[in-house]
Formats: sequence, C-alpha cells, structure tokens
Amino acid sequence: MIAKPRTEPVPVVPGRMSAPRSHHFRGSLGRFATGVAIVTFDGVTKRRGITVNSFTSVSMDPPLVLVSIARAAKAHDELAGRPFSVNILGAEQRQLAMHFAGRPGPEPLWVEGETAPRLSNVLAYFECKPWAAYDGGDHTLYIGEVVDFNYRNGDALAFANGTFTTIPESQLGMEDLL
Ligand SMILES: Cc1cc2nc3c(=O)[nH]c(=O)nc-3n(C[C@H](O)[C@H](O)[C@H](O)COP(=O)(O)O)c2cc1C
Repeated sequence: MIAKPRTEPVPVVPGRMSAPRSHHFRGSLGRFATGVAIVTFDGVTKRRGITVNSFTSVSMDPPLVLVSIARAAKAHDELAGRPFSVNILGAEQRQLAMHFAGRPGPEPLWVEGETAPRLSNVLAYFECKPWAAYDGGDHTLYIGEVVDFNYRNGDALAFANGTFTTIPESQLGMEDLL
C-alpha cells in the first residue's frame, strides 16, 4: 500500500515565496538527512569558520567538493578565492557545530593545515584550494579542489528534521561498494 502524504503537495509558483511557503520549503528540505561540517579558512583579520550541512562531493578526478554559503553570512565574501578546509564532525562535536553557527562556546583547538586551517580531532577533513564559485541565488556554491584529506573512526554527527542526531559507525565496511 502506498502511504498517503501527510500534507497536500504545495504547487510550485515561480517568484518570491510567502513566509509560510518558505517555512514549508525549509521543512521539506529538512527531511533530507545530512552530515554536519564546518568550513574553516584564514580570513582577512582572523581565522573564520561556518557550520554547514550543504557539503557534497562533486568529482573524483580531479577531487572536488562543494559547499553552499549564504550571501548574508559573514564568511561569504571573505571565502571567495581563498583556500578552505571542510571539517566533518563526529557525534560528540555538537558544541563545535553550534560554536560556528552563531552560538560561541569555548575556543576550539585549531590545526595549522598545509593549505588552510582546520579543526582538531574531527571525523574527517578535506583541505581545499579554490576551484570555482557559482551563483546560487541567495547562496554561493564554492567548489574546492581537495589537496589533503584524512579520517578517523567514530560515530558521525547528523542533522535531520531540524535537529542533531548521530549515526553509528558502520560495523561492515561499505567502502568497496562505492
Ligand atoms: C546544522 C546547520 C547547518 C547549516 N548549514 C548551512 C549551510 O549549508 N550554508 C550556510 O550558509 N549556512 C548554514 N548554516 C547557518 C550558519 O552556520 C550560520 O548562519 C552562521 O552562524 C552564519 O555565520 P556568520 O555569523 O558568519 O554570519 C547552518 C547552521 C546549522 C546549525
């Protein structure tokens, strides 16, 4: 049996969204579970970081990754043309996610990095050289060429339905399937 949708589909009307529709759009997007990452880089006067869940892999050869950064974010303009790191967070790193999402806590431990600064003890990291930037409406899509990366074992931090959750480390290696 096919499950009935909980709400009526909302017709797509081009143009500016009303507040309720934009809320509904966010809610719909939020049903897509993601990991949580922090983009870090050397800004003009200081090291900067911004929490994102818009991280995605783009290409294996050359190795490219993408993050989508809001034009309204302080990090937006400074990130243009600069090397950056993408730090993938582990289950125990919610505080770090909040720290770089406008709720500062204790100063995190930084690592110098070969190309860009990154954060200590994250689940995985990708140091990137700037590759391209594309207009993405009220966001900019920043693509980086990965020049260094690594990972450790551990549970992952995830974000779904507007809240943090965790994904246990797989007991079975799926890497060979991908
Ligand atoms: C789980 C989570 C995911 C987020 N994902 C993004 C994202 O992909 N892109 C973005 O621009 N902001 C994202 N944000 C919001 C920014 O982290 C937040 O607006 C940030 O504090 C803005 O930085 P600013 O203080 O430099 O303006 C996310 C926040 C959270 C908590």
